Amino acid sequence: MLRAAVLGLGSYVPDRVVTNEEIRFLDDKHNRCAEVRTETTDEWIRARTGIEQRHYVPNDSGFGTSDLGVFAAKRAIEDAGITAKDIDCIIFATLSPDIHFPGTAVFLQSKLGIDGEDGCACYDIRQQCSGFVYGMQMTDAFIRTGMYKKVLLVGAEVHSHSLDYTTRGRDVMVLFGDGAGAAVFGPQETDDPKDGIIHTHCQADGSGAMDLYLKVFEIAKLPYVYYDANDREQNQIMYPQMNGKKVFLNAVRNMVVSVQRALRETGLGWSDIDWFVPHQANLRINEAVVQYAEIPPEKALNTIQFYGNTTAATVPLTIDHYRKQGKVKKGDVILSTVFGAGFTWGSTVFRL
Ligand code: ACO
Repeated sequence: MLRAAVLGLGSYVPDRVVTNEEIRFLDDKHNRCAEVRTETTDEWIRARTGIEQRHYVPNDSGFGTSDLGVFAAKRAIEDAGITAKDIDCIIFATLSPDIHFPGTAVFLQSKLGIDGEDGCACYDIRQQCSGFVYGMQMTDAFIRTGMYKKVLLVGAEVHSHSLDYTTRGRDVMVLFGDGAGAAVFGPQETDDPKDGIIHTHCQADGSGAMDLYLKVFEIAKLPYVYYDANDREQNQIMYPQMNGKKVFLNAVRNMVVSVQRALRETGLGWSDIDWFVPHQANLRINEAVVQYAEIPPEKALNTIQFYGNTTAATVPLTIDHYRKQGKVKKGDVILSTVFGAGFTWGSTVFRL
């Protein structure tokens, strides 16, 4: 049978580390201010989220999301032992695109030097924290139907430029970090049902759309962009808004059901699966999922402590983090479950 196999993996986080202590002092331009600006504490952030630090693009670096994606993509391409020119499809998952349109995949393609008349297909997908698993489902279908032979899937985010660094935005602001992850997939003929992408399912519940959103503009209105920095209500369109408790409860419930569905539909048990890699939104969410879905705790991998929530990048970033440490190895079977804005969620089971 033909399966979509992981050929290579890569990740990237910018060098600048912002600790919970430092984040309280940042102004809109990410400079340290003398006075405390945000009413939060290292203790609160650690206890409620598990986050200890996150990475930000350096001030004035000019880095956009596609730039972070390029770093991760180059590492994944090298890891796959191919060249960028071998890629015949790019899927870019992000909630922080470089600009409104065109999508970020074409910028990445150009920066990889594979644009031009023979340029490959470029897709952008907008499923926020669920983007990488949604992208893996598309990848799986593309490869198994023979549509494409080498798919580059990238999840990348620059969150640090669109957060509210005042006390008003503290519930969201402390959660997010910048980063990127990428994987190259290709066809594999195999008789082993545990090879390649074994399973994907994706779901959504649009009734939760306005429980976690970022407007910036509303195309239904004239003028469609309205922004008055002095108007508290209008000012909120510039920053993510979140009904934290509702998101938390929906994340736990849907991730638990999604894990159970992946196990049921694959017929696999935890003795067949080496690692559980959940989306990294809140350590307490992941601990609850592990408990309620009866996942062996030693198989659950978390990196939110080091990177915060990097949205579409968390899954490849976490796998690559533990691969670099030698914990996760080529050939391991991974169950990954995600939940994000939309609401969207899903799971994949695959051999690395
Ligand atoms: N520092 C200090 N205090 C804070 C902070 C902060 N950073 N943020 C909120 N608080 C305060 C609140 O104002 C509240 O104060 P009050 O009691 O005086 O009103 C108090 O802390 C408790 O707030 P809660 O909202 O009850 O805190 P909770 O334990 O729910 O944690 C959190 C908040 C961390 C945001 C949590 O709700 C959460 O993680 N939600 C889910 C996030 C998530 O999963 N996002 C989805 C993925 S993201 C994506 O797809 C884009």
